[in-house]
Amino acid sequence: MATAAISDTLLSQLRSILPDEFTLTDDESLDHYSHDETEDLKFLPSVVVKPRTTGEVSAILKIASSENVPVTPRGAGTGLSGGCLPVHGGIVLSLERMNSILEIDKANLICVTEPGVITQVLQEAVEQAGLFYPVDPASRASCMIGGNVAENSGGPRAAKYGVTKDFVLGLTAVLPSGEIIKSGGKLFKDVTGYNLAQILVGSEGTLAVVTEIILKLLPLPKLRLMLMVPFPTLEDAARTVSLILRDGLAPSAIEFTERDAFLAAKEQLGKTVAYEQAAAQLMIELDGNEQELIDTHAERIGEIALENNALDVLLAEDKKRQDDLWAIRRSFGEAIKLRSVYKEEDTVVPRDKIPELMTRVKELCAKWNITSICYGHAGDGNIHVNLLKENLSDEVWERDLDTVIRELFTIVVELGGTLTGEHGVGYIQREYMPIVKTNAELALMKRIKDAFDPQGILNPGKIFPQGK
Ligand code: LAC
Ligand code: ZN
Repeated sequence: MATAAISDTLLSQLRSILPDEFTLTDDESLDHYSHDETEDLKFLPSVVVKPRTTGEVSAILKIASSENVPVTPRGAGTGLSGGCLPVHGGIVLSLERMNSILEIDKANLICVTEPGVITQVLQEAVEQAGLFYPVDPASRASCMIGGNVAENSGGPRAAKYGVTKDFVLGLTAVLPSGEIIKSGGKLFKDVTGYNLAQILVGSEGTLAVVTEIILKLLPLPKLRLMLMVPFPTLEDAARTVSLILRDGLAPSAIEFTERDAFLAAKEQLGKTVAYEQAAAQLMIELDGNEQELIDTHAERIGEIALENNALDVLLAEDKKRQDDLWAIRRSFGEAIKLRSVYKEEDTVVPRDKIPELMTRVKELCAKWNITSICYGHAGDGNIHVNLLKENLSDEVWERDLDTVIRELFTIVVELGGTLTGEHGVGYIQREYMPIVKTNAELALMKRIKDAFDPQGILNPGKIFPQGK
């Protein structure tokens, strides 16, 4: 295991690569890079470096590996599994200055970018060119595309378009040794040996530091329509999801939300939705280029919903209302955090199992007297289960939480699911890995880790349970 001590020699070596203003050791900077959006966790690094080029990243990693010092890569710090927390101290390597979009290649529908570009900035830039990068995590206004690659982020539109991995055609990355590798390219097909780019996607910064990303783009759909569909029960809403998909309709998003998420958002934003007291709602987005087709699909979705007890089917046709609805939707995470100490679980199950997941989550929470608020990407079977402390004493919360989470994951596994769909294992879920992965599977993952990072200096303390 790498040690976290930072010697003066190491610091002066780092300062020979980067100016002092990008090699930070002051208390304020160390504090700023000690946490992310994951609950209240905090781990201080010894130094924060902010390289601008792949060459600088390589030089930093060469020094770190020769000194055996941990390096934790970091994007915008919006993660929800503690993936960028420097849990063993050492160096935080922030990619924030590598923030140029290098090319928007209209002829090939491809974009080449550095990792520190804010996802929404990238989306808006490609839209200017009439193109579309659909992967839209709720944090898209503040997260970085490099962090999305590290975590294989998803978001609402994964229902139709897929997640980050489905758009990564190639990567440049730096190994912990400082060696620079490239995998893939502006190519839609490539079976030249193992697909190293795809191994890196979702590897949570534990294998290599990604410094350049080649992304597939799509033509920008010209039209969008949203439907808000309130239901009297969670199960009615959840059951409708797979019926819509089975009917051959392909909404760009099918978001499931239970009442308390809307109520929490209302408290935070002052914005609300119709039928705010309905037990659950589906928020469905359709996109495309033919109004008639969108209207036909919307009508059919409405019919299916009403056949399944929907209380109403409301259309949001104008962009302003759609933007408002998405703003409400994107605020859920923050709003719930403001309401209570909480623990978010990023469950994912086969889509037809969402009704059973909802029933069993509520039974579990009733048994333990814990409030839960569930919302998420029902089109992907990916439901964020938020467990709230609310009025429970610290003692009860700390005593029971781990058991409740284990029981929750046991249910998820029984339904054919797993413990994270888009947030990653990171630091906070690693001890639960044995619930879903066998020893053989974990050992194989560890051998992959060791092949990339034999010294174990890159983002240590993540993914693997302690002692594995
Ligand atoms: C969301 C984040 C929590 O969907 O993934 O809001
Ligand atoms: Zn999400």
